[in-house]
Amino acid sequence: MSRNNFVCSKKIKMLAFIVTVFVVGSYVYGHAFKGDIVPGNRADMQQQQSPLVHPASQESSRTHNKFVPSDFGAQQCEKKMKDLEERLSNIEQERKTYPETKYLTYKDKKRILVTGGAGFVGSHLVDALMMRGHEVTVVDNFFTGRKRNIVHWIGHENFELLHHDIVNPLYIEVDEIYHLASPASPPHYMFNPVKTLKTNTLGTINILGLAKRVRARVLFASTSEVYGDPEEHPQSEDYWGHVNPIGPRACYDEGKRVAETLCYSYMKQDNIDVRVARIFNTYGPRMHMNDGRVVSNFILQSLQNEALTIYGSGEQTRSFQYVSDLVDGLMALMRSNYTLPVNLGNPEEHTINEFAHIIKKIIGQCSITNHSAVWSGYVVPMLDGLNWTIAYFRDELQHAKRKENFHVWEPRSASNYKMHGQQNQQWLPHL
Ligand SMILES: NC(=O)c1ccc[n+]([C@@H]2O[C@H](COP(=O)([O-])OP(=O)(O)OC[C@H]3O[C@@H](n4cnc5c(N)ncnc54)[C@H](O)[C@@H]3O)[C@@H](O)[C@H]2O)c1
Repeated sequence: MSRNNFVCSKKIKMLAFIVTVFVVGSYVYGHAFKGDIVPGNRADMQQQQSPLVHPASQESSRTHNKFVPSDFGAQQCEKKMKDLEERLSNIEQERKTYPETKYLTYKDKKRILVTGGAGFVGSHLVDALMMRGHEVTVVDNFFTGRKRNIVHWIGHENFELLHHDIVNPLYIEVDEIYHLASPASPPHYMFNPVKTLKTNTLGTINILGLAKRVRARVLFASTSEVYGDPEEHPQSEDYWGHVNPIGPRACYDEGKRVAETLCYSYMKQDNIDVRVARIFNTYGPRMHMNDGRVVSNFILQSLQNEALTIYGSGEQTRSFQYVSDLVDGLMALMRSNYTLPVNLGNPEEHTINEFAHIIKKIIGQCSITNHSAVWSGYVVPMLDGLNWTIAYFRDELQHAKRKENFHVWEPRSASNYKMHGQQNQQWLPHL
C-alpha cells in the first residue's frame, strides 16, 4: 500500500469514528435523557415517547427506571430547591446577634479564663467580663453547669468554650484566671465526694500550675464553709474555723481548705499572684433547680403552693447576697492588691423564719417589680433580688411543666432571659 493510500484510509477511519460518536451521542442525548435534564417545552417532550420505555409499561417504569422522561423528577427538584431556599433564608434571618460589648484596645483587653464558667456564679461573671470587652475562655465539665447559661455568647469573637475537666491539666495562654470550678450545693458536692475532693485539690493544682507557667493572676472561689460549724458570729477572716474532717460536708469544706493552702503555698514558693474570696450564700437567676439550699427551696415550694420546710426553730440567721453583687466583689478583688482571704457576702442577716415570711409575702402578692430604676449602688436590695429570682424560678417551673405535658424538647437560650440593656429584661439589674 502506498503512503498516500495509507493516509487516506486512516482519515476515513477517523471520519467514521467521529460520525459514529455523533450518531450515538445524539441518540442518547435526544432520547434517553430527554425530559430529565434538557431544558425546553415540557409539553413537547411529553408527547415524544422515549424508545427506551415501552408504552404499556410506562407507568411502572416511571417509578423504577431512572432514565424515564417525566416531569415528576423536575417537580421534585423544584420542590427541593424551594425547600432549600426557604431554609437558607430562615437561617439568614436567625443570624445570631450579641449584646453590645465594650471595645478595648489590645493593651487593655485581657485574656481571662473562668473555670466553672457555665455554672450559676461563673456565667454571670462571664457576662460581666464579656460586656467589659475582655476575651473570655470558659472551661467546664458541665457537671452542674449548663450550656444554656452561656449560649448567648457562643460564636462571639471574644468568647471560647472548652468542655474540659480541670482534674486534667490544661495548656492555654491567659492573663487572669477566675477559678470557680467546683460543685457548690450540698446535694451536688455530696453526690460524688471523692470527685469533689479531686476537683478542689488536683484541679486547683492544675490551675495554679497553669498560672505559674503563663504568669497569670489567679482568683480562687473559696467558701464561708471553710469556717465549718463556726463558734463565732460573724466570722472574720482571721478566724480559723471549726471543721469536722470526716463529716458529710468534709469533701467540700476540707477540699476548699486544702485549695486555699495550695494557693498560698504556690504564692510563697513560686511567687504566684493569688486572690482568695470566701463566698457566702448567694442567690439569683440561673441557680440550679436542685440547688437544695434555702432560697431556691423556699421559692420553689411557695410557687407550687407547698408548705415551706424550716429546719430547727427557724431563729438561726443567714445572709444572702444577690449574684451581681458577688460578681462585682470578685472583679474588684481581682483588680486589688490585697492578697489575704476576703469574705464576700451581704452583711444584712435575717432569721430563716423572717426569710420564709418575706418569700411567702412576695409570691402571695405575685409582685414582680419593674427593676428598671432600682439599681442603687453596691448592694441589690433583697426584695428586688428575690423578685428577679422568683421570676426566673417561675419561668423554669413553667418550662419544666410544658416539657412534662407535651414531651417535647424546647431549646431555650439564656438570652431569652434578658441580657442587660435588652428588651424584656426582668432579672438582671446590671452587668
Ligand atoms: N453559690 C454560692 O452561694 C457559693 C457560696 C460559696 C462558694 N461558692 C463557690 O463559687 C463557685 C461557683 O459556685 P456556683 O454556685 O456557681 O456553683 P455551680 O455548681 O453552679 O457552678 C460550678 C461549675 O463548675 C463546674 N465544674 C464542677 N466540677 C468541675 C470540674 N472538675 N472541671 C470543670 N468544671 C467543673 C460545674 O459544671 C459548674 O458549671 C464554686 O467554687 C463554689 O464553691 C459558691
